[in-house]
Amino acid sequence: MKKLLAMLLVLTMTLSLVACGTQTADQPKEPETTGSESTAPSEEPSSSNTVDVGIVLPTKDEPRWIQDETRFKDALRSTDYSVEVLFSQGDSAKEKQNVEALIAKGMKVLIICAHDGAAAAAAAEAAKAEGVTVIAYDRLINGTEAVDYYVTFDSIAVGEAMGQYLADRAEGKGNPLYLYAGAASDNNAFLFFEGAWNVLQPKIADGTFVIKNSSEAVALQNKATLTRDEMAKIIGQVTTNWDFNEAKNKAEAHLTAAKKADKGDVFILAPNDGTARSIADTFAADPDVTSYVITGQDAEKASVQYIIDGKQSMTVFKDVRTLVNDAINMAVTILKGETPETTGAYNNGVIDVKAKQTDVIVVDKTNVKSALIDSGYYPASEFTGLN
Ligand code: BGC
Repeated sequence: MKKLLAMLLVLTMTLSLVACGTQTADQPKEPETTGSESTAPSEEPSSSNTVDVGIVLPTKDEPRWIQDETRFKDALRSTDYSVEVLFSQGDSAKEKQNVEALIAKGMKVLIICAHDGAAAAAAAEAAKAEGVTVIAYDRLINGTEAVDYYVTFDSIAVGEAMGQYLADRAEGKGNPLYLYAGAASDNNAFLFFEGAWNVLQPKIADGTFVIKNSSEAVALQNKATLTRDEMAKIIGQVTTNWDFNEAKNKAEAHLTAAKKADKGDVFILAPNDGTARSIADTFAADPDVTSYVITGQDAEKASVQYIIDGKQSMTVFKDVRTLVNDAINMAVTILKGETPETTGAYNNGVIDVKAKQTDVIVVDKTNVKSALIDSGYYPASEFTGLN
């Protein structure tokens, strides 16, 4: 028994050292609600040690990716491979430098969440050329053969859940609908929009909703299925670029342009939590908006508080623990020379990338406590007003 305990102690110490040896050792500051203003510097690769698994995340300026970093740190406690996490700070050149720095350290598996799905092809190709196995994490890398696997949530289902939430709450005809989307450089923005359109389009066609902020969407409103180019036209008009300020500015411009009759009880498709909070604040400040239903995704802490406070209607909870575990398990399987399990495939314009997909859960005021607190995802102490 004593021997076992001693072994466990040594193992724990080794693992903590491995964890401390990563770039993630410092607990990053959680950005404010409008965290895009944060100027947190991107991290420089550490000068020492070698790396088995390199993880490259898009930015520290959004709580979503800080969440992933934290969950990676938690998951890494159960592996003794060396891991380093680097952030690209919304810059594809920095992203490629990060990948090159990890290659120089002998990285064998790369887990990468692209800032820009097309631009990241060069980074993936650089890794592949050195025999690294490339796992696209959450966001697909497009237009290259250099992606081996894709670990993702079911992003069409995310969009469908958002659309369904709005549709279920709209009564009668002529409900004002405001559409917002993610960054066109992110393949997910198309999948989310496609999912939402699947549900909303029939409700637009039958008059339940009337689109108020996109002439491109109005022009296409009778088409049940949109091509990527058609979606690009709409997204081009209502993109937030995943940026809280851009979301706020767009919402302000739309409300300024809209007549009183286009407001009242409104429905808003917001593509994620960060942008939902800025858009919700903007709509809440307009005296002609009587009520609003607004979507989101990521279950960011600030949005969980908004949901408790009745300022954001819902979020699509994507359990980052599952995604992180899937990615780590996949990396470890590859390091052992085995073939990881996949559940389907996503086409990236050049190849079908084998994918492991995870389901999502709709969270609103009615289940926020059971889904996010009682499940152990967040401690209750992080929030006020929970019943
Ligand atoms: C992710 C979302 C995130 C968004 C902005 C998407 O690719 O799937 O969870 O909110 O990027 O960072």
